[in-house]
Amino acid sequence: MAQELQRPPAEVRYAADLELLARLDAELGRTAPKGWRLSAPAVVEFIVGRGEPGDKDYVTQKFIGPIAQVQRCVVTLATNRGLMLIGEPGTAKSLLSELLAAAISGDSSLTIQGSAATTEDAIKYSWNYAMLLAEGPSEKALVPAPMYQGMTSGAVVRFEEITRCAPEVQDALLSILSDRVLTIPEFEGARRNTHAVQGFGVIATANTRDRGVNEMSAALKRRFNFETIGAIGDADVETQLVQRETDYALERAGIPFRLPHDFTEVLVSIFRELRRGTAGGTGVERMSSAMSTAEAVAAGVSAGLESAWFGSGTPGGKELAAAIVGTALKDSKEDIARLKAYSERYLHGSKNPLRASLYEHLELDHVEKHTPR
Ligand SMILES: Nc1ncnc2c1ncn2[C@@H]1O[C@H](COP(=O)(O)OP(=O)(O)OP(=O)(O)O)[C@@H](O)[C@H]1O
Ligand SMILES: [Mg+2]
Repeated sequence: MAQELQRPPAEVRYAADLELLARLDAELGRTAPKGWRLSAPAVVEFIVGRGEPGDKDYVTQKFIGPIAQVQRCVVTLATNRGLMLIGEPGTAKSLLSELLAAAISGDSSLTIQGSAATTEDAIKYSWNYAMLLAEGPSEKALVPAPMYQGMTSGAVVRFEEITRCAPEVQDALLSILSDRVLTIPEFEGARRNTHAVQGFGVIATANTRDRGVNEMSAALKRRFNFETIGAIGDADVETQLVQRETDYALERAGIPFRLPHDFTEVLVSIFRELRRGTAGGTGVERMSSAMSTAEAVAAGVSAGLESAWFGSGTPGGKELAAAIVGTALKDSKEDIARLKAYSERYLHGSKNPLRASLYEHLELDHVEKHTPR
């Protein structure tokens, strides 16, 4: 029996859309930039959608954001510049980079995960030392890392959380981005320089919350075009997205129920209120945890699973409370006080039965007592 993936990559999850768009390109005579699978308009359509449900060539919207921004991303990748997506946590920077790679190269797997432990080896290439000692430097002894693979196969490489790497390591990208060359000093002659083939591109993502941990060098910044990805502005649009993504996750988990729409609505509105804070005299400060759309989806899925397995099948205040405490209260004791203030102001005595029931179940005094200083 074939084993099911926990989270299929975009090129697998949306394979039908990619196929449809390739067919449309052929029918409409749209040509793809060199080394790309799809034309530039098709890449944008893959990401922001095409037509209405029920249309013959309908493509779902996958990333919610300004179409002009997605177009700019596509243009950047078609030029010889890197694309840098920055923004608050959980605003779909990683998702957008995955979708771009899937549409342009048909493969989003050439990914480097940046961390304090990332070395140049993990970016460019390393060696199979047994073979290196036995035969000297050869193509066979070289173990390619994502940059080398992307350059030689002409594919988009993703560099996640680039600012978490040490600046020296980040600067390994300088000659790759400007000269499109990777130098392998162990090789001799012409083989020393590996030149990128058409289709190669780099998308990096960085979080504005932990940006500055390792500031990027000015030289590297100049080689990227920056795009700031914002949180979803419209509450209804965000609710729809959270509903769609929780439906998908619950279906994959084999749960026959879906979140009731009014539940999703309350969940999203609470996340939005906590994310922004509500300024003013009786207002509530914004939380230090991100309270992002991505976290609203995760909270919705948890609530759905909890009620399907341990509750009535219809999630209510109890499940919502557990999901919110799990997402909102991470490491800051102040957040407990903020959440308390919020719940007194916006949940206590609310006419909305779900908000009122959430108030009954939040039990923040208990959480506070058990949180170490
Ligand atoms: N604008 C959006 N369009 C589509 N999905 C979104 C959007 N914002 C958030 N999401 C949801 O959040 C998830 C994206 O989270 P993702 O990991 O891409 O965010 P991120 O910005 O990379 O976060 P982090 O900074 O924590 O790495 C998506 O899978 C989707 O469910
Ligand atoms: Mg990310």
